[in-house]
Formats: sequence, structure tokens, C-alpha cells
Amino acid sequence: MRRLSERAIGAVKVCLFLVALAPLARLLLGVFVFPEWLGANPAEYITRSTGDWALRFLLITLAVTPLRKLSGWVWIARLRRMLGLYAFFYVVVHFASYVSFDHVFDVRAILQDVVKRPFITVGFLSLVLLLPLAATSTHGMVRRLGAQRWNGLHRLVYVIGPLAVLHFWWMVKRDLTEPIIYALVLAVLLGYRVQEKWRQARVARPVR
Ligand code: HEM
Repeated sequence: MRRLSERAIGAVKVCLFLVALAPLARLLLGVFVFPEWLGANPAEYITRSTGDWALRFLLITLAVTPLRKLSGWVWIARLRRMLGLYAFFYVVVHFASYVSFDHVFDVRAILQDVVKRPFITVGFLSLVLLLPLAATSTHGMVRRLGAQRWNGLHRLVYVIGPLAVLHFWWMVKRDLTEPIIYALVLAVLLGYRVQEKWRQARVARPVR
């Protein structure tokens, strides 16, 4: 399990690609075949469900490195790009759903909303910050930017994660259970990185 053949990694990637499409497939089936799946307010259901999946994929992407280090499954790092792109994909569908259902493409109303409602402001900021990450996700861009600059840029995800959780937190009016769960998962994933950096710095410190 620590090492997988190229063929096995290819098969895992195909499975992951299909599984990650399931939430979208469910929404499409709800729209075209089983309207009862989308409840009394289909537009709200679509916006919320795609928002949930965007956040889940973001957290799953952030879980790859800790999982690789703790388990020794080196190959899992090869899934990170696809997971990150799925997070971006669901954010784009989420935004498209908001733009079309909530504002019927009224750009002025959207901009007013972005400026006036703090939860929309941070959601929008997360989307804007995700754009350069998605745009530089190809192997060609990694080569063009160089590993150091690419890694520096992709550290933006450590800002996007908290902003996305804040977006959900500020949106919820009563029961905060779900945003609290997402915040705790994020805290564990980011806390692991802080602890690793601290440990590496201690190891690197010269012994007197
Ligand atoms: C990284 C980017 C984003 C993530 C991860 C995200 C995630 C979420 C999540 C988890 C929810 C709550 C879903 C639920 O109630 O279960 C939500 C709701 C919502 N989001 Fe986002 N979001 C993002 C960006 C945006 C952007 C750019 C906009 C629009 C400018 C937006 C507009 C909304 C709206 C309007 C709702 C409330 C839906 C409703 O009450 O009907 N989000 N989002």
C-alpha cells in the first residue's frame, strides 16, 4: 500500500474522478428527473449543496499531505491536484448558482452584495484567491514558475481554508454545529503543519 504501480495509481485516479462527480450527478438528476430530491427550494438546495462540496473538497485536499506523512502512502500526493481542481469546480458551480438564481446575472446587485454582506465578501475573496491556484495547477505551470515560487503561491490555500469556513460560519444564523465541525477539521489539518514546521526547526537547530 505504501507504493503503488503506475497502473494502480491510474485506476485510483479514474475511480476518484467518477466518485467526485457524484454530487453533481445527483443535482442533475434532481433537476431533470427526480425534482423531489431538491426539496421545496431547488435553487437554495443547489447553492448550498455545491458550497458544501466545495468546502469538503478543499478540506480533503488539505488532508492529503498529513495523510501521506502519517501513513507513508507516497502515491496519495498524486491525487492532490485532482482533489484541488474539484474544490475549484464546485466553487465555480456554487458561484454560478448564486449569480443565476439569487441575482439573475444582475452585476450591480452582485457587486452590492459582495460589498455589503460580510459572508458574501469572504466567500468572494476565497473564490478570487482560488483562481491563481487553479490557473497554475498544470505541470507546465509548475515548471514555468519553479518549485519554490509555485509552492509559495499555493500556500494561499492556508488563507482560503479559514476564509471558506468563516463564510459558512457567518452565513449560519442559528445552529452553528456544522461550521464548528468544519472549523475543527481545518484546525487539525493546519495545526498538523504548524507542529511539523516546529519539529523540523527543532531538529535543524544546531546542538550547542
Ligand atoms: C471557496 C469558496 C466558497 C466556499 C468553500 C463556499 C462554501 C459555502 C458553504 C459551505 C455554504 C453553506 C452551505 C450550507 O448551508 O450547507 C455556502 C453558502 C453560500 N454561499 Fe458560498 N462558498 C464559497 C464561495 C462563495 C461565493 C464566491 C459566493 C458568492 C459571491 C457564495 C455565496 C453563497 C451563498 C449566497 C450561500 C447561502 C446559500 C443560501 O442560503 O441559500 N459562496 N457557501
